[in-house]
Amino acid sequence: MSSPLFHVEMLGPQHDRATFRSGSAPLDRYFSEQVKQDVRRRVAACFVALTDDQRVAGYYTLAAVAILLSELPPALAKKLPRYPTVPAVRMGRLAVAKEFKGKGLGGALLADALQRACNAEIAAFALVVDAKDKVAAAFYAHHGFSAFAASPLTLFLPLATARTQL
Ligand SMILES: CC(C)(COP(=O)(O)OP(=O)(O)OC[C@H]1O[C@@H](n2cnc3c(N)ncnc32)[C@H](O)[C@@H]1OP(=O)(O)O)[C@@H](O)C(=O)NCCC(=O)NCCS
Repeated sequence: MSSPLFHVEMLGPQHDRATFRSGSAPLDRYFSEQVKQDVRRRVAACFVALTDDQRVAGYYTLAAVAILLSELPPALAKKLPRYPTVPAVRMGRLAVAKEFKGKGLGGALLADALQRACNAEIAAFALVVDAKDKVAAAFYAHHGFSAFAASPLTLFLPLATARTQL
């Protein structure tokens, strides 16, 4: 990841999930109460950004998802095979701790997620993100993501496009 101040690794039992505060109660609650179960059940992978003293400064989750071909803009869909769905990676959650906001960590975690999706041996067409509100959607739009016409808080970035920017 691009920020030298943080180290990103997979969530493990050694990480303190209870004290993480992003300013979004649902994202904090998910991290402290739910993520461990989701990881155990293999419905999400979770990655954490750590400070030098091993504090969790941010986290994000990744999972597999299918995009309906009919949900993509027609100009993009016509370049793809006519399967009903295309494979993608979904970043369901992304959160940065309050004290680290505005320092580039959110952007660096997004880049880290894109890098992992691009480097995966299993093919995926795009990274799909779920924004919790319009402000979060604007963050993703700022990073080149496009909203699905039918659901403006779900956005995507083709990994072929991301690869040229990483
Ligand atoms: C959204 C969030 C992840 C951004 O993290 P951050 O570390 O504060 O953001 P960064 O400092 O990395 O910002 C990177 C870039 O995005 C821009 N940006 C940040 N928030 C933005 C927003 N809401 N709208 C548009 N651009 C935004 C910054 O200006 C910066 O631009 P630059 O690289 O051109 O200078 C963070 O504010 C957060 O955790 N919010 C609460 C949870 C949340 O909304 N999660 C999002 C998905 S559900």
